[in-house]
Amino acid sequence: MHLDDDLLTRRASADPYAVLAALREHDPVHWSDAHRAWLLTRYDDVSAAFQNKALSSDRVRPLREARRSSDATAASDRVLELLSGWMVVNDPPVHTRLRKLAGGAFKAQRISAMGEQITGLVDGLLDGFAGTGDLISAVAYPLPATVIATMLGAPVADRDRFRDWSDELALVAFGTGGTARADRHERALRGLREMDDYFRGLIALRRREPGEDMLTAMMATDEDGDDRLADDELVAMCALLLFAGHETTTNSIANATLALLRHPDQLDRLRAEPDLLAPAVEELLRFEGPIKVLNRWVVADTEIAGRAISPGQRVHLVLASANRDATRFADPDRLDIGRTPNPHIAFGKGIHACIGAQLARMETRIALGRIVERLPGLRLAGEPEWKDSLASRSLAALPVEHRAGQAAAV
Ligand code: HEM
Repeated sequence: MHLDDDLLTRRASADPYAVLAALREHDPVHWSDAHRAWLLTRYDDVSAAFQNKALSSDRVRPLREARRSSDATAASDRVLELLSGWMVVNDPPVHTRLRKLAGGAFKAQRISAMGEQITGLVDGLLDGFAGTGDLISAVAYPLPATVIATMLGAPVADRDRFRDWSDELALVAFGTGGTARADRHERALRGLREMDDYFRGLIALRRREPGEDMLTAMMATDEDGDDRLADDELVAMCALLLFAGHETTTNSIANATLALLRHPDQLDRLRAEPDLLAPAVEELLRFEGPIKVLNRWVVADTEIAGRAISPGQRVHLVLASANRDATRFADPDRLDIGRTPNPHIAFGKGIHACIGAQLARMETRIALGRIVERLPGLRLAGEPEWKDSLASRSLAALPVEHRAGQAAAV
């Protein structure tokens, strides 16, 4: 039986779920020639893969090795060298150490204390969003970079620069810059150098004047008091937080809003029962989560659901499919903002599970809650387009209109 397995066609970008349902049913551990990788589409297989030591998170080393044998530019080598320090692309023991040192800074009370600030930022962005326009460029895109800049204790005046650096990072990391141009590594390297200088300056400032911010917290020793992040590692951590926390959260807010607009009964239900906001966000992360595919490299022989998988191959963990698996979620293609329990894996699982999940949830809840509350009559003002990206479920724009200004004038 021939199975359509190309997740990068226009049609699959617009709606990957039919292709994924067929793979889940007929060939859940599927070798794809189109992607030159195994596609894992069932919930149980994807969940188990997060614990499988034969599957490495080091996605950068194989790229660096491949480049060594080609005529790759010095700029691309340097960019990959920088990315290779990120904990998300490292296995234990390097990952274990970095995660432990960063973990202390993500303590629950520190994040929950940001709620008021985030509400203020969302309201400020919504104040400038009159009548009609792109909700992504107005709210979903600027918010997360500003939140990360605030969280790291950057002065207000510098916050716009975080967005530019995040864009440069997205151009090179994990293929999220779908339409990247040939000079992308040079451009990214320029951006990364500027960012590197900036964070070093901020670190020096915080050493002199410690603050309440997360950068100051990340500079501390671990709880045993015998290890701390070196300056290079701190800079890498700041860059990773910006990269990992920006586009994902933008997409979380935008995808959630679009899904509600496409399911007006659920939007009405949320308006009538605002207490459903927290389960609604979980359901929206399951239904239209920001990350479609995570990548792993095979480093030892392994078997997944009876298929032999060999070292050197790539495995794609298709989160967008696992989260629609009927063995785990009743009526999985139905959006039900009251769904409970909801064991979705939009934030991954295991040792690399998203360290920013609490912050991401809070940002999405606040943004969505304020959008629903403050923009009466919200509706689509055009057909939104999905970007052609394997890694992320990402809209190019979200054109909407609303009656907020008019309501105030009456
Ligand atoms: C809705 C928004 C978000 C989603 C869906 C998301 C999803 C994920 C997923 C699936 C992973 C696992 C990656 C893997 O296993 O290879 C991950 C890791 C990570 N995320 Fe998030 N994320 C979001 C927001 C954030 C935010 C706001 C931050 C921080 C400011 C953040 C920081 C990180 C970091 C640092 C890692 C790496 C953790 C590690 O390697 O141990 N994420 N995220």
